[in-house]
Amino acid sequence: MEVVIVPDATAGGELIAEAIASLVRRKPDALLGVATGSTPLPIYEALAGKVRAGAVDASRARICQLDEYVGLPAGHPESYRSVVLREVVEPLGLDESSFIGPDGSAEDVQAACEAYDRALSEAGGVDLQLLGIGTDGHIGFNEPCSSLASRTRIKTLTRQTRADNARFFDSPDEVPHHVITQGIGTILEARHLVLLATGEGKAEAVAQSVEGPVAALVPASALQLHRHATVVVDEAAASKL
Ligand code: GLP
Repeated sequence: MEVVIVPDATAGGELIAEAIASLVRRKPDALLGVATGSTPLPIYEALAGKVRAGAVDASRARICQLDEYVGLPAGHPESYRSVVLREVVEPLGLDESSFIGPDGSAEDVQAACEAYDRALSEAGGVDLQLLGIGTDGHIGFNEPCSSLASRTRIKTLTRQTRADNARFFDSPDEVPHHVITQGIGTILEARHLVLLATGEGKAEAVAQSVEGPVAALVPASALQLHRHATVVVDEAAASKL
């Protein structure tokens, strides 16, 4: 695992956007796994800037989703499908045909999870998976105690994660209880994992993930098992390393 300490979130966004641009220059139809939350936004802004400036042609890139809420009505602005279309797909000048995601409104959620794992394999696998980290060390929505071998499946959010994500909804009660997430085993199949963490609130989770033992209690520690994992942290998130 490579750990890169950058001065701030903007520098982290720029560094990772350049890594993505360089992948897309080598492999124009690369499958990019994207994460939601506030942390990766500087990456998407920097990457869209490079596309607009003509520094990279991303017109053949493909985008896939890490996780999704279960049960939000189709088109809800905070469904992760809507967020990824708004924050990533559209700014890169792509359309929905370049996007793969799990169906959070499916009647048979388990079947939707299995279908999504299959879709990722049939697409040739994820070339670069971006990850954020929860304050409890979760990746995607794999909460503490998730199996390190888990596949895409339905999970129940912890009280802490629902509280952390309440800022995106009108009221805390609106945050769904259930989600679909790529499993940790699914995530580990991506060819390159890139985790960005910024701010002091992530420092403890980063320290446990990077320097602690590999443990289901700290899902992001599974990155230690991957042959090509890059953890980019700003000074504040690195403060407990
Ligand atoms: C959610 C997402 C994660 C994300 C996390 C942290 O739980 N499912 O993928 O990493 O939030 O979000 P933020 O970057 O806003 O702190």
